[in-house]
Amino acid sequence: MAKKVPEPTVPPRERAFLVGVELRNEPSLLPLEDSLEELALLAQTAGLEVVGQTTQKLDAPHPDTYIGSGKIEEIKILVEETLAQVVLFDNELSPRHLRELEERLGPHVRILDRTALILDIFAQHAHTREGILQVELAQYEYRLPRLTRAWTHLARQAGGGGGRTGSMGGVGLRGPGETQLEVDRREIRKRIATLKAELEKVRAHRMRYRAQRQRSQIPVVALVGYTNAGKSTLLNRLANAEVYVADQLFATLDPTTRRVELPGGHLALFTDTVGFIQKLPTQLVAAFRATLEEIAEADLLLHVVDITHPNAFEQAQAVHATLKEIQADHIPVITLLNKIDRLPDPKAAEEAIAYFSGSVLAISALKGMGINEMLTLVNQELFETYQPVKVRIPYQEGNLISLFHDQGQVKRIEHTRGGVLIDGNLPGRLLARFQPFLYTDDKLSQKEETT
Ligand code: GTP
Repeated sequence: MAKKVPEPTVPPRERAFLVGVELRNEPSLLPLEDSLEELALLAQTAGLEVVGQTTQKLDAPHPDTYIGSGKIEEIKILVEETLAQVVLFDNELSPRHLRELEERLGPHVRILDRTALILDIFAQHAHTREGILQVELAQYEYRLPRLTRAWTHLARQAGGGGGRTGSMGGVGLRGPGETQLEVDRREIRKRIATLKAELEKVRAHRMRYRAQRQRSQIPVVALVGYTNAGKSTLLNRLANAEVYVADQLFATLDPTTRRVELPGGHLALFTDTVGFIQKLPTQLVAAFRATLEEIAEADLLLHVVDITHPNAFEQAQAVHATLKEIQADHIPVITLLNKIDRLPDPKAAEEAIAYFSGSVLAISALKGMGINEMLTLVNQELFETYQPVKVRIPYQEGNLISLFHDQGQVKRIEHTRGGVLIDGNLPGRLLARFQPFLYTDDKLSQKEETT
């Protein structure tokens, strides 16, 4: 009797063909091959199977199809040969590019770009209510101008590898003279408005929590870094927190905060944040602004870098660029070169340190190397290092004025029409709080302001 072959229990993964384009007029952070390698990792994280890739160098994108017509023909053949179901572009495609490419490559392949893929991964990994709402909003805002087929098609496609947006409901009733596409757009706009309203409510709640946390005066240390650098592993190591750690991109999406005792007995709140990546979709940065703003309010940043990654330096640059974008570049940073246990020669860590400026330390979050030194450094930065500052604090911010007196060192004080000018030193942990009131020398010498 023939042996019965068991039914496969795991659905086959969709087969994806990758397309990378280097634009000579738009220099990018990573070399083409490395960027494609990263795209392949993203694709795997989203549950796709990569079956091939092709690249092209162009001065600028083709206005209609992004890539040239010869390249399109080549991709058509390769798609047939590899049985690819998805063609994945490393660059963000405009609505027009997407439409034209869909037409030329035919109805049997789905076209995705890096942005849609990252949005999809975020949709799979969001857990908190705010995270889920933020991603859903970003997905709709991305899709609205790109809607080319009917809603039913979109609903089937939504969330790609199992995202949550498949629940976006049914087709709305057509008004007089409305096409199906118009109905779909109207429905999406309605959903966007509802999502925004829901997000407002969630945020109001979080603001109350944040105010409470500020009153508690425990300094906040935010872990930032490129995706997969080891932030969650570090947080686990610090507080035995059960944060999800996986060798996947964007395993952590929602901030998790843990209370840690520093050497000397002071407490600090360590918070894990969403991983950064080059070409982070603008819709996503916008949707996650509120979460990212929490980083901008931290007292200290720990920038975790995977020093074993061949593009470690470029990844660190991408992180700096995002920090600047979210206006968090004024906060003191300690750079942690992580995963040194994987370096064949431990001396390599010493050499790597020389490439990074500021306060830098080599660690292994996984093996616990360098963690005590790191906590000592955090303690120094937050509680022992004083920085010279000049601030003008409005009179209504009486709490801040007394905070400076209590915990800082006041050298000179002047009462002006706009507030109290204080020249002195502040401990690192308080710098972020006084940031909005920093005062420059030339302003300080404007005598007419002095009463
Ligand atoms: P995102 O959620 O994508 O932002 O990632 P993350 O920065 O939180 O990284 P995570 O802690 O999830 O770690 C990613 C992978 O790197 C996991 O497989 C970890 O086990 C591994 N890893 C983290 N730190 C170390 C380390 O010090 N040494 C080694 N060998 N592996 C590490």
